[in-house]
Amino acid sequence: MAKILVIDDNTELLDLLRVLLEQRGGHQTVLSADGTDGLLQALADPPDMVISDVMMPGMSGYEICRQLRANPSTASIPIIMLTARGQSVDHQAALDAGADDHMVKPVDAEELLQRVDDLLPQKEHIEPEEPPAPTRTLVLLSLRGGVGVTTLAVNVAATLAQAGGKAVCLADLCSSSGHAALQLGLRPEPNWSGLAQADIPTVDAIEAHLLQHKSSLRVLASPVFPAVGLGLSKRATLTTMRVLKQQFTTIIVDAPAVLNEAAMAVLETATVVGLVVTAEPPSIQTAVGTLRALKQWSEKFQVILNQVAPGPQLPQGALERALKRPLVGTIPFDPAQARALAQGAPLAISNPGSPLAQAARTIGSQLLALGNQ
Ligand SMILES: Nc1ncnc2c1ncn2[C@@H]1O[C@H](COP(=O)(O)OP(=O)(O)O)[C@@H](O)[C@H]1O
Ligand SMILES: [Mg+2]
Repeated sequence: MAKILVIDDNTELLDLLRVLLEQRGGHQTVLSADGTDGLLQALADPPDMVISDVMMPGMSGYEICRQLRANPSTASIPIIMLTARGQSVDHQAALDAGADDHMVKPVDAEELLQRVDDLLPQKEHIEPEEPPAPTRTLVLLSLRGGVGVTTLAVNVAATLAQAGGKAVCLADLCSSSGHAALQLGLRPEPNWSGLAQADIPTVDAIEAHLLQHKSSLRVLASPVFPAVGLGLSKRATLTTMRVLKQQFTTIIVDAPAVLNEAAMAVLETATVVGLVVTAEPPSIQTAVGTLRALKQWSEKFQVILNQVAPGPQLPQGALERALKRPLVGTIPFDPAQARALAQGAPLAISNPGSPLAQAARTIGSQLLALGNQ
C-alpha cells in the first residue's frame, strides 16, 4: 500500500480516482483540488507518489513537478501527469518538467493502476513474504525411565540439525544426569540449573546456557548432579520455551520422568508429545496411567514403541488394545546404540543408515508433520 497524493481541480474526477486507487489499488489517497495547496501538502508530508492534472488555475502541474524535483525531500517521488483530451500538452513537456509518466483523460482504470504499480518503489511489487512457519515443539516423555526417551530425543534432534537449514534446539529438562549431552559427547556445563536461580531468566542468560554441538544443534543440558529443590519453575520453563521459540524452528524436549513444574509447563507448550513405551507390562501400565493423568492434552499424544532389548516382543495389537490407541511407529533394537552412547556420537550422525537412526528420522518427521496440522 502506498500513500498517493492526487491533485486535480475537477473534484468529480478526484473522487473517482480516490475510489479507484483505494478500493481497487489498495492504496491510501490524499486529495487536493488546488495546485498550490497540493504542492504544500506534498512538501509538508511527502507521499509515495503524486498524480497531478496539468492545467489548473493558480499553479500548473508542470510547476508542481519542478518544485517537487527541486526539493530534496520530494525529489525522487514518482509523478504521473494527467491531461484532458484535446489539451495541447506534449508528452515530452510533462517528462521535461520532471514527471515520470503522462496519461490522457479519461484514464483507463486498469492502465492507471498498472502504471502506478510500475512506478512505485520495488518494495511495493514484492509479494508479501510467507509468514514464517511457527516453531514446532516435540516433547518426548515417559514416566518410566530407561525406555529410550533421551536416545530418541537426541537422534531426532541430531537428524534435523544434520539436515541443515533449520534452527534446532534440544532441551534436556530431566531432573538430573545430563544424558542428552552425554549422548552428544558434550560436557553438560552450563545447564538449566543455572537458569533455575532467577525467577524469570533473561534472553541473554538463556542464550548463554545453550551448548553448541559440532552439528548446528544447540543444546540446553540438564545438570549431572541432581538439582536440590524444585528445579526449573513453571514460570522459568515457560519463559525459556518462549525465548527458544523465537530463535529455533524446531525444539525437541527430553522431558523429565516426573510431572514436576517443568514437565507440566513444557507439555503445555508442546505441539506434539511422543510418549515412549517399551513392550513390557510396567511400561505399558505407566503409559496408560500417563495418558489418563494428562488427558487434557490427549490430542497431542502419540505413542512410540522402542525396543531397548533384543528378543521376542509383545504383539503390537495387544499393546494398542491396552493403550486404546495405535502406535505411531516402532524403533527396533539396535546393537550399535551401546557403542554410540559410549562414544558420544549419536547414530543419526555417526551411522545414519543404522536401523535406530532411520527409525528416529521417520518417526521424528512424522510427529513434527502432525504438529503442523
Ligand atoms: N532402540 C534401541 N536399541 C538399543 N539400545 C537402546 C535403544 N533405545 C535405547 N537404548 C539404550 O537404552 C538405554 C536407555 O535409554 P535412554 O535413552 O537413556 O532412556 P530414558 O531416557 O528413557 O531413560 C540406553 O543405554 C540406550 O543406549
Ligand atoms: Mg533420559
